[in-house]
Amino acid sequence: MLVRVNVNGEWRSADVWPGSSLLSMLRDDLGLPGSKNACEQGECGSCSVWLDGALVCACLVLAPQAHERVVRTVEGLAAGEAMHPVQEAFVEAGAVQCGFCTPGFVVAVTDLLERDEDLTEAEVREALSGNLCRCTGYAKILEAVRIASGRMHLREDEV
Ligand code: FES
Ligand code: FES
Repeated sequence: MLVRVNVNGEWRSADVWPGSSLLSMLRDDLGLPGSKNACEQGECGSCSVWLDGALVCACLVLAPQAHERVVRTVEGLAAGEAMHPVQEAFVEAGAVQCGFCTPGFVVAVTDLLERDEDLTEAEVREALSGNLCRCTGYAKILEAVRIASGRMHLREDEV
């Protein structure tokens, strides 16, 4: 069936099997491999995207459920060559090892900081508890959240 979605500001269509996931449509049909397929069971957060502004696991959403809706993926965060502050912070903090979990974390952290930048570490840990990393031990990811939070605040103050 033909599914039409607005992805990162652009209307795109794909002819998909009705049982395919949004994740599969993004990666295999629309050429957007940033969202990762690690568990395909809603357990790891590697496939996190926004659907009509709400954070979802793209592996748990059927592609037809996204028809005529707005999807934002990790590919939509950078502004041309300029990384998003959360992406910059992950690089700066060394929060990336194998990188498989990174797009999902970047999306989840961006979602968190766009909604609320004054969070305690416990609140950040709770908010990110659906994202799993097998490499970093999370300390550097939390450091990246601290860096990004300060930077996003600063940029808002400058506007
Ligand atoms: S691949 Fe979707 S939650 Fe793990
Ligand atoms: S950096 Fe490897 S799973 Fe997180």
